[in-house]
Amino acid sequence: MWGGRFATGPDAIMEEINASIDFDQRLWRQDIRGSLAHAAMLAETGILTREDVDVISAGLKGIEAEIEAGRFTFSRALEDIHMNIESNLKDRIGLAAGRLHTARSRNDQVATDMRLWVRDALDQLDEQVADLQLALAEKADTYAGAVMPGFTHLQSAQPVTFGHHLLAYVEMLARDRGRLRDARERMNESPLGAAALAGTSFPIDRHMTAKALGFARPTANSLDSVSDRDFVLETLSAASICAMHLSRLAEEIVLWATPQFGFVKLSDKFSTGSSIMPQKRNPDAAELVRGKAGRVFGALQGLLTMMKGLPLTYSKDMQEDKEGTFDAVQTLSLCLAASAGMVRDMQPDLKTMKKAAGLGYATATDLADWLVRVLKMPFRDAHHVTGRLVGLASSKGVGLEKLSLAEMQEVEPKISDEIFAVLGVERSVKSRTSYGGTAPANVKRQAKRWLKQLAKDAKPQS
Ligand code: ARG
Repeated sequence: MWGGRFATGPDAIMEEINASIDFDQRLWRQDIRGSLAHAAMLAETGILTREDVDVISAGLKGIEAEIEAGRFTFSRALEDIHMNIESNLKDRIGLAAGRLHTARSRNDQVATDMRLWVRDALDQLDEQVADLQLALAEKADTYAGAVMPGFTHLQSAQPVTFGHHLLAYVEMLARDRGRLRDARERMNESPLGAAALAGTSFPIDRHMTAKALGFARPTANSLDSVSDRDFVLETLSAASICAMHLSRLAEEIVLWATPQFGFVKLSDKFSTGSSIMPQKRNPDAAELVRGKAGRVFGALQGLLTMMKGLPLTYSKDMQEDKEGTFDAVQTLSLCLAASAGMVRDMQPDLKTMKKAAGLGYATATDLADWLVRVLKMPFRDAHHVTGRLVGLASSKGVGLEKLSLAEMQEVEPKISDEIFAVLGVERSVKSRTSYGGTAPANVKRQAKRWLKQLAKDAKPQS
């Protein structure tokens, strides 16, 4: 492509370090789509003749069909997807192929391709996150009233319901979707026509190509257009936060599926056995979702580091934006699918969860609240009295509800036997009716709200 200035070909190592075709070939659809839009605009503005553009467009469509059919041979010597396609076009249609690159550069071309690819990725991830939300909301609806321990510091804190716990993830994922959509909204501008960096002297119509490619508008500054990759960074940060959320859910599934917790059972579909220990059922899918988060974070860190020292505008360093991004999107997509599968698959053990909910003096706050409500004790004093009762029960090795009234009255004489009513875990969760609280009726209402909202989102926008 630059033989005019160069006398010999590149060294083999140069070719190896320089070529991106091994990974950027996945941009072929975007590259052809961008070229078709560019060519149509060149005809419309009279920069190229209609005849040339018809031949170019037909040639591009031929290439598209050939790649689609898996019959196209990509060549490393041709460096990247842009030149592989252009060179093939020349073989097909001859001279006119050389006119396609009028008023553009690989710099705006790759920026356009990458935006188109990332935009599709954002849409696909959004859909997958919504499906995981749906799986969680359905389970939450079914188990709105199933009591389980709520933890802080991974210590029994207060009883909550399984549905409430699952809906916490639905909320996190909703914010993830907000971030993905935000990123999409901000990135949806067309860099095509910025050319190498300074724009072009040809009378191009950037609004036309922007529209043809589904962008809201052309980018406003040609230098920024070819050197911006923050649309990729935003995508990777949204993806990283989402991967972190999936990893936390996965970690909980790993814990819950242990015989020690025994809160949920995963079917054979989402667990594996051990080749040596016949009793084992390992939650490998959950562990891998947890483990793969690191790759997504790595892609973000890698791209931030690669970009931070680059002067405007394009530098070849930026070719390194691709592998990590492709991998991160593919990884997150797989993790989302696996998470939705596991959530749909897992069966809670209601008896075990309920029993665990009463361990660790989890209704101590209910007892303290009772002292405040019924005996009008200041909360700090009630906290102190309850602490002494817990200490007493603990020294006897029993639960709070197993203390006798006389024993309780030794700590606080005004306590009556009404107090036993609040020491049950069912009563405890039922009483948490504050907005956003874990009372089963609240949880049911929230689960229904989400199911309705998700069904509405899923309807195709007209
Ligand atoms: N393969 C290159 C990339 O991915 C395309 C742009 C090359 N531009 C250039 N001036 N060398 O960044």
